[in-house]
Amino acid sequence: MIWIFEAVITALWLMLPAYIANPTAALLGGGTPIDLGRKFLDGKRILGDGKTFQGLFAGTGCGILAGMIQIAISDSFKVFPGFTFISIVCLSFGSLFGDLVKSFFKRRLGYERGKKLPIIDQLDFVAGAWLLTFIFSREWFMDNFTPQIMIIVLLITPVLHRLTNMLGYRIRVKKEPW
Ligand code: CTP
Ligand code: MG
Repeated sequence: MIWIFEAVITALWLMLPAYIANPTAALLGGGTPIDLGRKFLDGKRILGDGKTFQGLFAGTGCGILAGMIQIAISDSFKVFPGFTFISIVCLSFGSLFGDLVKSFFKRRLGYERGKKLPIIDQLDFVAGAWLLTFIFSREWFMDNFTPQIMIIVLLITPVLHRLTNMLGYRIRVKKEPW
């Protein structure tokens, strides 16, 4: 049993910059949308009002900040896996990049901003974070995201996502509880 507990803690630790980027984007986002209000060829918004520059930058910044604190902690205590600067940038930015790409396809499918898209809404940012980390920090990714850790992340993320969004809805940061 202990190994499962250890693996879950490791998974949470490794994903923390990505996990921080998403809710802080929602908390601090607003203002000019990234698509500048423009429409795609299909006449629908490119990304929609839910994707703003402020959310993208503030969320990425908060994720990087969390990662820097984690680097300091793992350097001092040597118990948690270490990060590299490039890996925390990829995890933080990648998380919001995944969310953005998802919104592009959501709009193409005719889903209004904020409409629920089960599973995709919960794992978009994991996919984005992993993809960018895999591309730009491959060795670090392969060393840390073992198949076992990846399975744990895929299982715990939807649960965590649902809980944070319910909380965000209650404190009125989010318009929908998903
Ligand atoms: N947000 C933002 N900028 C981003 C990402 C998120 O400002 N790059 C903010 C928006 O206020 C958004 C909220 O965080 O409404 C919640 O994010 P999310 O659920 O990803 O967006 P939705 O509004 O649900 O839009 P979509 O349907 O495109 O996912
Ligand atoms: Mg949403």
